[in-house]
Amino acid sequence: MTAFEIQDAINAIYVVAVLVFILGLKAMSSPATARRGIVYAGLAMLIAVGVTFFSPGLLTDNFLWIFVGVAVGGFGGWYWARVVKMTAMPQMVAVFNGMGAGSAGAIAAVELLGHIGDLTTSGLSVAGGVIGSISIAASIVAFLKLQGWLTSKPIVLPARQVVNTAVLVIGVALGIYAVIAQETFWLLPFFVLLLLYGVLLALPIGGADMPVVISLTNALTGVAVGLDGFALVNGPLGDAGYAMVIAGVLVGSAGSLLTVLMAKAMNRSIANVFFGAFGATEETGGPVQGQLKPMEAPDVAALMAYANQVIIVPGYGLAVAQAQQKVKELADLLESKGVTVKFAIHPVAGRMPGHMNVLLAEAGISYDKLFDRDEINAEFPATDVAFVIGANDVVNPAAHRQGSPLYGMPILDVEQAKNVIVNKRGQGKGFAGVENELFYRDNCHMLYGDAQSAVGQLVSALKQTE
Ligand code: TAP
Repeated sequence: MTAFEIQDAINAIYVVAVLVFILGLKAMSSPATARRGIVYAGLAMLIAVGVTFFSPGLLTDNFLWIFVGVAVGGFGGWYWARVVKMTAMPQMVAVFNGMGAGSAGAIAAVELLGHIGDLTTSGLSVAGGVIGSISIAASIVAFLKLQGWLTSKPIVLPARQVVNTAVLVIGVALGIYAVIAQETFWLLPFFVLLLLYGVLLALPIGGADMPVVISLTNALTGVAVGLDGFALVNGPLGDAGYAMVIAGVLVGSAGSLLTVLMAKAMNRSIANVFFGAFGATEETGGPVQGQLKPMEAPDVAALMAYANQVIIVPGYGLAVAQAQQKVKELADLLESKGVTVKFAIHPVAGRMPGHMNVLLAEAGISYDKLFDRDEINAEFPATDVAFVIGANDVVNPAAHRQGSPLYGMPILDVEQAKNVIVNKRGQGKGFAGVENELFYRDNCHMLYGDAQSAVGQLVSALKQTE
């Protein structure tokens, strides 16, 4: 086979890999097929990376380094993904995304150092370097905040808009100057300033908005990889560049759609998430009126056993407590007593998109019992019991009141149910740090305790009711 024929065969395999990527993304759009989607995407990546080793232009004296990189990265990723808790998933995604962005930045740096005289390659690499650097730095800050190693409150520095803009403009200008003057010396301050910009961009963002930041930086990483791919197309591994372009475009577009979806679910613009410093100011409106009314498990069980319909609203606390199996038991028991049980899933309940769907699916709860906000909100007034388990912000009626930091966030209107039972451990606020007015409403009672044990007590109590 000639080098051309080998390259044609490799390109055909890249097309297969791309198709498998697209199938993977398609499968990820439903919880029922999401696992399969992950396997497809992994397989596509394996095919794309594996076939690149046969590229005629590949420098074989680099093989050892490539294998060391693949072994360290592959083992690290496999191990971490196995041990990570579902609730720590956002941090992991932040780090993995940071790795992708770092790789994109590194490729851009290598291309710039090697081809500073080639205007097309270096221009694309400057763009890839800008986006990759911002994305890795912001991802690291997101990781530190979500891991609790940095305060999750917005860190608002004086004159931040002016300083941030100056850092960005000077950084980009240095990159452009390096290319025009063909002086690689300016690349170092270029990368340093853009990394600094990534840090400054993420510091004022509150912990509750971090999933949006991760999703957006993920999209940016895709764009950076795509730009690097275009830059590589001019080099000896040209056709591998096309594979990167396609992978980058897929990641960039999927990440952008997810970002828009999350921002919409919180009724915030992307600009507000990034520049609004949400949570830096205290809410107005004074202390909430009313009192918290505890209720014991046997009383809650009796209330539910005689209900026609119970809607269960899961939130982050359910995930922390790993209460999904108990919740499934509860739902089965209620159904065996003739009660209709439905689940109301808010798009940003928990800490990741689809967090609640995955947890409930894991416990074997069928998808046709899961309803999203638009489908279920109208049903609350006719519902006897809304049972909120470890959710807070996504059911806070303060979102309907001007002056609240949550104002405008579309919520699940559980307060309209005839009875509301809220399970949580104590007086802890939600992720946004806003007091929940729901808990003080006349029709709301608190079932205190860790979700797993509280729902367990409910199950035991229900078993004793005839
Ligand atoms: P949160 O508002 O974080 O409230 C969770 C509640 O669970 C807390 O009030 C806590 O109260 C309780 N809790 C904690 N551990 C518990 C346990 N072991 N057993 C029982 N309860 C427990 O959760 P949410 O309503 O799901 O809202 C999600 C938040 O994340 C929102 O602010 C949302 O905007 C933000 N967010 C999410 C996403 C995605 S994609 N999911 C994206 C962006 C932002 P106690 O401490 O009193 O127990």
